[in-house]
Amino acid sequence: MLKSLGYIGLNSTRIDDWSDWGENFLGLQLVDRTKSRLSFRMDDRKQRVWVEDEGEGPEGNPILGWEVADAAALDALGGRLESAGIRFGRLSAAECAKREVGDAIAARDPAGTRLEFFHTPIVASDPFVPGRRISGFRTGPLGVGHAVIYVSRIEDVLWFYQDVLGFRLSDYQARPTRIMFFHINQRHHSLALVEAPRNGLNHLMMELLSLDDVGQAYDIARVEEGRIGMSLGRHTNDFMTSFYAYGPSRFMVEYGWGGRTIDPDIWESSELTMGSSLWGHDLMWLDGRQFDEMRKIRRAAGEAGLRAAVQVIPGNFKISQGECPWFDRIRSRSDSETF
Ligand SMILES: [Fe+2]
Repeated sequence: MLKSLGYIGLNSTRIDDWSDWGENFLGLQLVDRTKSRLSFRMDDRKQRVWVEDEGEGPEGNPILGWEVADAAALDALGGRLESAGIRFGRLSAAECAKREVGDAIAARDPAGTRLEFFHTPIVASDPFVPGRRISGFRTGPLGVGHAVIYVSRIEDVLWFYQDVLGFRLSDYQARPTRIMFFHINQRHHSLALVEAPRNGLNHLMMELLSLDDVGQAYDIARVEEGRIGMSLGRHTNDFMTSFYAYGPSRFMVEYGWGGRTIDPDIWESSELTMGSSLWGHDLMWLDGRQFDEMRKIRRAAGEAGLRAAVQVIPGNFKISQGECPWFDRIRSRSDSETF
């Protein structure tokens, strides 16, 4: 039903900071700027991210824009929302023009997060030019990336995301924090829910086409005190090599490379029991005891020999010449994802 996470809107009073950070750190292309609004591109679409000072509401409050195929799919979704007792409204022509889409409706999830559903995004006629010298973002049918949002009780919104919107469970973590990961396309997760006594964004993930894009951003981020939220590491579930940086609105952006794709038709969800990372991803905000606990979990992953094949797309890797019979033997004893 939903195709992908198509756009992100952010409410922020820090327009100048977002302009600078969006372009010079994230590498987005700033295409339009007024005193109260910024518009960014990250691919062939006219807009993927915007930041607007709405004059009220929490700093960094997001609008998550979910794409559907066409007008019929949008109508069908409206019918489902109505049957579920979720109020929604149609966006005006002017609001759709601001979002660079053909048509859209808006609703809130049961926890109050603002969602929009749209079809027919406008494609730009000129090529994407990144704000910083990166290779580009991996979007297309996988969408912008993923959004991880806080909810006070996952049960309160689970029925809405799964039964009404059709999100499918990728996997979940029960402890130390309850997190559920959901997919709607081949991206391992486009949405995750984190249980915490608050609302809003935990982080947005943007996936780069080159590992070096991520490493070079890490170099930039590390210079600034307090900029890094999570150190460089690799996730156990989507295999993303990434780090997390705090942006102007204090939620984090996960800047990653090498996310896996899944086959939604045969995917089976499971519990994540080895922690969230194969290595790295130090949570910088943890205090001493919790920090030690986190390191203990990761050490266990290493001691268990947890590892996963590097996930590449055509063109961003080169196979080295030569053979290694030892590696072939190791690999033949395992499945295709681990070795
Ligand atoms: Fe993430």
